[in-house]
Amino acid sequence: LITRAFRSQFVIPDFQDFIKDIEEMYWTAKSITDGKVASYIPQLARANCDNWGVSVCTIDGQRFSIGDVNVPFTLQSCSKPLTYAMALEMLGPDVVHQYVGTEPSGRNFNELVLDHNMKPHNPMINAGAILVCSLLKTLDKPEMTLAEKFDYVMSFFSRLAGHEALGFNNAVFLSEREAADRNYALGFYMREHKCYPEKTNLRECMDFYFQCCSMEANCDIMSIMAATLANGGICPITDEKVLRPDSVRNVLSLMHSCGMYDYSGQFAFKVGLPAKSGVSGAMLIVVPNVMGICTWSPPLDPLGNSCRGLQFCEELIKRFNFHKY
Ligand code: DON
Repeated sequence: LITRAFRSQFVIPDFQDFIKDIEEMYWTAKSITDGKVASYIPQLARANCDNWGVSVCTIDGQRFSIGDVNVPFTLQSCSKPLTYAMALEMLGPDVVHQYVGTEPSGRNFNELVLDHNMKPHNPMINAGAILVCSLLKTLDKPEMTLAEKFDYVMSFFSRLAGHEALGFNNAVFLSEREAADRNYALGFYMREHKCYPEKTNLRECMDFYFQCCSMEANCDIMSIMAATLANGGICPITDEKVLRPDSVRNVLSLMHSCGMYDYSGQFAFKVGLPAKSGVSGAMLIVVPNVMGICTWSPPLDPLGNSCRGLQFCEELIKRFNFHKY
């Protein structure tokens, strides 16, 4: 890092100027009062609307954070690209995509719908993510108990984040499981259509899915995960190779086409970057070969994306030429 600094070889050489822009964008978005916090899980309904944080981590380890970046939140659907990445790593894309498609669903994230092959459309919506959990639970190291599998996933996520420790919010997990009629309906619907690998224990698989959604991190930590994805799977903080480049390519492709709920097409058009949002108000944004960004603000628009996070992304693209095209 120091050698590169002396030689001005950073991917963003004028990082101090860049920070000024990020700060301005942060304060502009802070004044937004639109949106409502997710209320379908009682524990999420208690979120504080004022929380707003942005963290940036470049692929060569330059970092900047502003706002509520150390306040923990649950990963929710931001765990979906991570469990998908893990499944690709452990089982390879051919096995994973025997079970789950790669097509945007054009529907809500929790809609009771499968594609024309009777598979979930993609791993970024609930049905696909529940299926990915069943693959991780049943096919990858099947001898592990649910408890061991939980530790295994936690440590994998933590490696993506430069070995920062993640948390687990048990109240959200319990609340989520209580308010999960739709997810159970999806789970049983997929069992009816024989979507899962043989020997899948549906109850364990659903618990595992709720646990992944209830893991906790903060903006600072999540920006490192996004940076690992931006850096071809090598964590910029530890230099550890966590994911293969082909896994990263698959994850980013599906974040690009399916990561922002039923706004994914518009987001790809306007912002042109792979991203994933979750109902806790978090957004993982990847600028490939440059940096990872995490934004967090609980109020959501009607499609479920963070209002401040979206505004921040649109402004980012106005100021910098990060749009893929
Ligand atoms: O499955 C659920 O309802 C949530 N725990 C995850 C929701 C979420 O963030 C929506 N994502 N696509």
